[in-house]
Amino acid sequence: MISMSNSKKIEEPNLSANPVNYHTPVLLAEVIKGLNINPDGIYVDCTFGGGGHSKAILQLLSSKGKMIVFDQDATAKQNLPNDERVVFIQHNFRHLQRFLRVHKAVAVDGILADLGVSSHQFNEADRGFSTRFDAALDMRMDNRQQTTAATILHTYSESQLHKIFEKYGEVTNSKTLAKTIIEQRSISTIKTINQFKQSIQQIVKGNPNKYLAQVFQALRIEVNDEMGALKEMLQQSLAVLKPKGRIAVISFHSLEDRMVKNFFKQGFFDEVQADDVFGTKPESPFVLVEKKPVTASEKELKENSRSRSAKLRVAEKK
Ligand SMILES: C[S@@+](CC[C@H](N)C(=O)[O-])C[C@H]1O[C@@H](n2cnc3c(N)ncnc32)[C@H](O)[C@@H]1O
Repeated sequence: MISMSNSKKIEEPNLSANPVNYHTPVLLAEVIKGLNINPDGIYVDCTFGGGGHSKAILQLLSSKGKMIVFDQDATAKQNLPNDERVVFIQHNFRHLQRFLRVHKAVAVDGILADLGVSSHQFNEADRGFSTRFDAALDMRMDNRQQTTAATILHTYSESQLHKIFEKYGEVTNSKTLAKTIIEQRSISTIKTINQFKQSIQQIVKGNPNKYLAQVFQALRIEVNDEMGALKEMLQQSLAVLKPKGRIAVISFHSLEDRMVKNFFKQGFFDEVQADDVFGTKPESPFVLVEKKPVTASEKELKENSRSRSAKLRVAEKK
């Protein structure tokens, strides 16, 4: 384990350039500390969003420093600062290595990924992410993509639906839910959030808000292949980070966190790796910056409810 401390004093970042209400960054000071910014370095923000984390990193970079920021959602572009040190890439971070090569950034000092959707995406009714509104069942972060939540509800088999609700939403009656969707979609098309809610209302278990949130989370993860993208980005991080370069990932549910934890601890994703004949485990390519995940302070928890489930893990490439 190595220390998170940054020799440079961390200033309160000036976020006044952040468009109001787009997104409040979580664990901001903790991310900055964890990345241990090299002022002349190259940093990648895989999930630019409202740009809160990126802008705080930029404040610590010199004129030689550079940032390459990804967001697959075109609306994030509106938050770009007028700063020639920043390059915006409107693509999925699963193509990290390819785009870094295009921009001649073959070895970088730090990578940040703040996973999931932004408050802006969640609060825009038309995007279809929130159970609070009625809209088309969309849930795409990248609207150039074909597959929406409605596509999944209408084309997946019963066993595929069962699997995603069980795995990504931990929905207690995921089997019954999958069966009900298959029955209901043969009666009429399920295109909107309200149609979907009505078609499953008979089988909602426990607190309806919690139940629907779990169902929507599962659909969102599948629509955007969030686990697949995270896996590919983590694998490529090893190739693009300089020795002593750091990677910080903020996750919001246990599946993501487990994937990040295993990868940082071992350099691969499986839970158990057979020891070799001598009983030694393969050495991880990373050193953990903090042994336990970093969570929000009492103050942040009070100010930003979104920080409740946030877990930050930081690792340094050997
Ligand atoms: C939680 S927000 C990030 C907020 C940002 N850190 C800030 O301070 O405003 C996540 C953002 O990452 C984007 N995103 C999520 N997964 C992505 C992926 N696989 N590739 C590219 N962008 C992604 C989303 O569109 C969203 O804008």
